[in-house]
Amino acid sequence: MNTLKKAYCRTFQFLFKMAIPLLPYRDPEVLDRVEDVPELLKRLGRRSVLLVTDRPLRDAGVTAHLEEALEKKGIHFTVYDGVCPNPTIDNIEEAVKLFRRNNCKALIGFGGGSSIDCAKAVGARIAYPRRSIEQMKGILKIWRRIPPLIAIPTTAGTGSEVTVASIVTDTRKKHKYMLSSFPLIPHYNVLDPEVTFTLPPSLTSTTGMDALTHAVEAYIGGSTTKKTRALAREAVKLIFANIETAYKDGKNYEARRNMLYAANRAGLAFSISYVGYVHAVAHSLGGQYGIPHGLANSVLLPIVLEDYGECVYKKLAELAKVAGIADRGASDEVNAKKFISEIKAMNRRMNIPEKLKGIRKEDIPVMAEHADREGNPLYPVPRLMDAIELEKYYHLVDEDNGIEKQGCDPAG
Ligand SMILES: NC(=O)c1ccc[n+]([C@@H]2O[C@H](COP(=O)([O-])OP(=O)(O)OC[C@H]3O[C@@H](n4cnc5c(N)ncnc54)[C@H](O)[C@@H]3O)[C@@H](O)[C@H]2O)c1
Ligand SMILES: [Fe+2]
Repeated sequence: MNTLKKAYCRTFQFLFKMAIPLLPYRDPEVLDRVEDVPELLKRLGRRSVLLVTDRPLRDAGVTAHLEEALEKKGIHFTVYDGVCPNPTIDNIEEAVKLFRRNNCKALIGFGGGSSIDCAKAVGARIAYPRRSIEQMKGILKIWRRIPPLIAIPTTAGTGSEVTVASIVTDTRKKHKYMLSSFPLIPHYNVLDPEVTFTLPPSLTSTTGMDALTHAVEAYIGGSTTKKTRALAREAVKLIFANIETAYKDGKNYEARRNMLYAANRAGLAFSISYVGYVHAVAHSLGGQYGIPHGLANSVLLPIVLEDYGECVYKKLAELAKVAGIADRGASDEVNAKKFISEIKAMNRRMNIPEKLKGIRKEDIPVMAEHADREGNPLYPVPRLMDAIELEKYYHLVDEDNGIEKQGCDPAG
């Protein structure tokens, strides 16, 4: 990246960091059980609600508890269960139609990040009936209140239940992008471990590594605060201690609860302190090929951290200590490398592949452009890179071509 663009990015990030205390972040009110939702809706005076979810979840009976509870308490509910992993503009528009047709007054996003993000985007379209989703793309485009939104995460991954973001995919343009505005933060979270019991091991591992990526990228970035550093450390500690138990024993209440809580804390950390290039590249791969977000992040995380090199040693060494894997007396470099190796080892033990399949060389420049536009100037990454420099990550996850590592960004 040229010096002028670097200076622009760092100035932009500095201004955003200075603005953090002034921005209206909020931590949603938390409920512990899905059975508590009808009472909450009654308290809010909302007797008609749109439940946004996906079909596999509903078919597996995961929403049944909630649906029964709503029925019992006389809350009228309409179900939109067409959300795709990586929710599309069509998903959002279909759900908006249902919301209007049934005179709904509140939203429930029930599922992984895809269902919660879809519900957020529905809220945005209700608040701005004349604006398309594309017109609300980017940061701070939405200022009006959306209908009350209750987020019920069924994966312990995205943290979408606390974040300002909704990530949507335009399937026609093969482009995945973000709406990022404060009114999109859900008003309520239900952190009920039982709705995650059915999450299969392959999704438990990759969505959990997504949560780890949030915590790590927020922690190594330049816009952390005391609060977000503490949140990220707490998430890293809990994920290292619980992810493999949740992977092996899906009905382990304690491990599932800790993972849900960790994902939630990591979500809050990155909502304030941002993510980095792992996410920017993962989103471009999701937009182009539909590669699941958690899988892309799991594979990219150790590769990008390794490539950052010495500029992240100190922070990764701190995280190694938090995770309980640091060697006392060893250098930051040694402990940082240990942290990265342990991520790789966890991936291996949970059968996450080391590389991604199906990347076409001719698509790489466009994906790298998308990643560049997502990451710069917003993400306060340890080392700035432009589209050309980001192209290496697509090659590194696709094939072992031994690109040389670079040093730190002097501007960062
Ligand atoms: N808004 C944000 O801040 C934010 C942050 C990171 C990622 N995301 C987005 O979130 C999406 C990914 O979300 P995700 O990884 O949570 O998964 P997901 O919502 O895409 O779901 C993946 C699959 O898991 C299944 N599933 C979910 N919970 C289950 C359960 N308890 N039992 C059985 N199956 C279950 C779903 O049916 C689906 O088939 C991506 O679009 C990503 O870009 C959003
Ligand atoms: Fe993520």
